[in-house]
Amino acid sequence: MADGDSPAADIVMYGPRGMGKTVLLNWLKNEAKKSGTVDNPIRTSWTTPDQLASPADMWSCLMSSDWKKNLKPDETKFGFGALSGTWTRKGVSNQALINDLISECKKSPLVFLMDEAHQMESGQCRGLLNVSQTVQNEAPFLLVLAGTPGLAHFLKTVGASFVERSTKMGIARLDAQATADAIVKPLNEHGINIDDSTLAPVVEDSQHYPYFIQLWGAALWDLAKQKDLQKLTSQEIAEAETKVENRRSNFYEQRRATLDDLELLPAAVAIAAVFQDTETTTRDYLKEIIADNLPDDSLATQSVNEHLQTFIRHEFIWNPPDSILFEAGIPSLMKYVLDRQREHVQKVSPASLA
Ligand SMILES: Nc1ncnc2c1ncn2[C@@H]1O[C@H](COP(=O)(O)OP(=O)(O)O)[C@@H](O)[C@H]1O
Ligand SMILES: [Mg+2]
Repeated sequence: MADGDSPAADIVMYGPRGMGKTVLLNWLKNEAKKSGTVDNPIRTSWTTPDQLASPADMWSCLMSSDWKKNLKPDETKFGFGALSGTWTRKGVSNQALINDLISECKKSPLVFLMDEAHQMESGQCRGLLNVSQTVQNEAPFLLVLAGTPGLAHFLKTVGASFVERSTKMGIARLDAQATADAIVKPLNEHGINIDDSTLAPVVEDSQHYPYFIQLWGAALWDLAKQKDLQKLTSQEIAEAETKVENRRSNFYEQRRATLDDLELLPAAVAIAAVFQDTETTTRDYLKEIIADNLPDDSLATQSVNEHLQTFIRHEFIWNPPDSILFEAGIPSLMKYVLDRQREHVQKVSPASLA
């Protein structure tokens, strides 16, 4: 893009929450800025659907501040479908706005980043995909959408051809080395050390899941600061574990409660049981299990496919790009759901303990 070329395709990143999509988008934004040159500065714009009440808001994010000088969107004249709009004092049609965006991007390529993209409204999303396609044919413009696994399905319903054309990136867990680095490097920068062998149980306990790595990192950091330590030992690991465990149980319990509210807990337990013995399974098998474990009347209102999508939307399971198999969404949520179910069974029928 810094050379004035259009990227070959837009990017869609998706993965369960806590995997690091927002962090990665921020990194991309900074890299894009750095890649610009004096002659060809790269413009970046970051937004989330909740900041976009109307297409005027979307155009505000797309256009440069130069363009917006002296112009005000006429909010009343906007319709979402085609991101059409009128800007007062210029009376601009949708096509004119697109043409203006093309000239803007020829002057300065635009990287447009939309986080939480699964929350977009269909018309708003369709409008954005159309703008992206048209502009990208003429000038350097890159659209990056990031969201939860539900984004893949949502985009298919809005713009199937867009999904086919785009580069899909699954944002999944880190490897063991990256996990260790994520904890050790920031501590080292502040003169705090930890042995590999001391850290090993932490790396394992985090399940290489960025959100849990962050919980561990924060707890260890706080202890090092409190005790003014240059070196962390197994003692601090044990102390930090209590904190991490508390936060993690809260996190799991909230997700379990959501499934309970949706009356999907029995199906969740059945799915969790399957994943005890395997890391991946097929869509058809999951659908069978869901169908067998739904409340009596629920197939009257929603199909098994819709229930499957609900599980994906709530990140219980997901289907990474480049794979036809499903895996667990948030790590160990399944184990938590199963453990709670076992406790529950033991409480209601203590005889089963005998
Ligand atoms: N590559 C990484 N290594 C270590 N920690 C990370 C990494 N990416 C993200 N994190 C941490 O994980 C947490 C979740 O990241 P975030 O970007 O908010 O996830 P998402 O947007 O996918 O929900 C944050 O606390 C972040 O600091
Ligand atoms: Mg995020």
